[in-house]
Amino acid sequence: MSRPRNDTLLRALLRQPTEHTPVWLMRQAGRYLPEYNETRRRAGSFLDLCRNPQLATEVTLQPLARYDLDAAILFSDILTVPDAMGLGLYFAEGEGPKFERPLREEWEIRDLAVPDPYTSLRYVMDAVSQIRRALDNSVPLIGFSGSPFTLACYMIEGGASDDFRRVKTMLYERPDLLHHVLEVTARAVTGYLNAQIESGAQAVMIFDTWGGILSHGAYREFSLAYVERILGELKREYDGQRVPSVVFTKGGGLWLEAIAAAGCDAVGLDWTVDMGEARARVGSRVALQGNLDPMALFARPEIVAREARKVLDSYGPGPGHVFNLGHGISQFTPPENVSVLVNTVHEHSRRRGEK
Ligand code: CP3
Repeated sequence: MSRPRNDTLLRALLRQPTEHTPVWLMRQAGRYLPEYNETRRRAGSFLDLCRNPQLATEVTLQPLARYDLDAAILFSDILTVPDAMGLGLYFAEGEGPKFERPLREEWEIRDLAVPDPYTSLRYVMDAVSQIRRALDNSVPLIGFSGSPFTLACYMIEGGASDDFRRVKTMLYERPDLLHHVLEVTARAVTGYLNAQIESGAQAVMIFDTWGGILSHGAYREFSLAYVERILGELKREYDGQRVPSVVFTKGGGLWLEAIAAAGCDAVGLDWTVDMGEARARVGSRVALQGNLDPMALFARPEIVAREARKVLDSYGPGPGHVFNLGHGISQFTPPENVSVLVNTVHEHSRRRGEK
């Protein structure tokens, strides 16, 4: 596997110097792009799009054709893993993701099994290898998975939730059952991420979107412990190249030191954290990824540029920063503001000299 021509993302994640701060955006391929909506229409639905490697490749590349981004991220979803575990993923119009068979009974939990990523998630591996071929080493490809706790939230609630009542009731009443769900899911995620790496993913990211809803002690026991276990079993190198890992915990600012000590190369930050303070807290242990408020992209272009410079200045000079949003880009974002953001990050970080 040869190195990508623009490998600033990989170097920044490993805290090596780069000429500019690399930038990519969570959900960079998505509904704010008219060309995405057009391809999705052709596919029939979001899930049909995920399951068609040719079309998944097409939408992965769309934001790179428009913007000077430093990375591609696999077009898929975190919920493909519980789907492969037999829960039956579907999207109800306007209601987000749902499962036909959420985990309700103890026997359903005892029956959970680790899927073989090369059979039940073959379409994801095919998309990864097809995207790598299409990228032709221009920029690196990021693979991803949800964290076991975040996946368990959807598996137990059966979909999105305002209060996470079911999963938290299980946590307090039957922690043994929740641990079993997390244990099986952690093995599923480990196999899934390693298969993505073997198929060509050059960095991997774990999305712990719901870790931040847990109480202080519960976060370590029910979320971080399983992320740590996965990180310990990931392929660190493939084909002679280091494969950096990123952990993003929305609402995880309080636990930054613990996340940085979990064995990842980089920590993703949401917009509630000050970049410079976060850097002072983790020192040289990990790189940091983030963390512009996605809503800043609704302001006028000059304000978008100002806010992007603030994040860069807050991090300060020296290596180890990957610019991103603090969460996924909104579907209502004006696409032209994304150009302003990406170009500002490159120009401002380059002007500041060696990063
Ligand atoms: O970043 C990327 O561009 C890669 C693709 C990606 C998607 N989902 C595509 C998607 C990634 C990395 C995800 C991760 C994901 N999916 C997370 C973790 C990250 C986060 O946002 O916190 C979560 C919690 C999910 C579950 C999920 N999938 C939800 C809650 C939804 C509905 C969201 C909404 O905005 O309605 C999805 C659907 C989804 N996943 C879309 C996309 C582009 C929108 C689907 C559509 O086209 O209608």
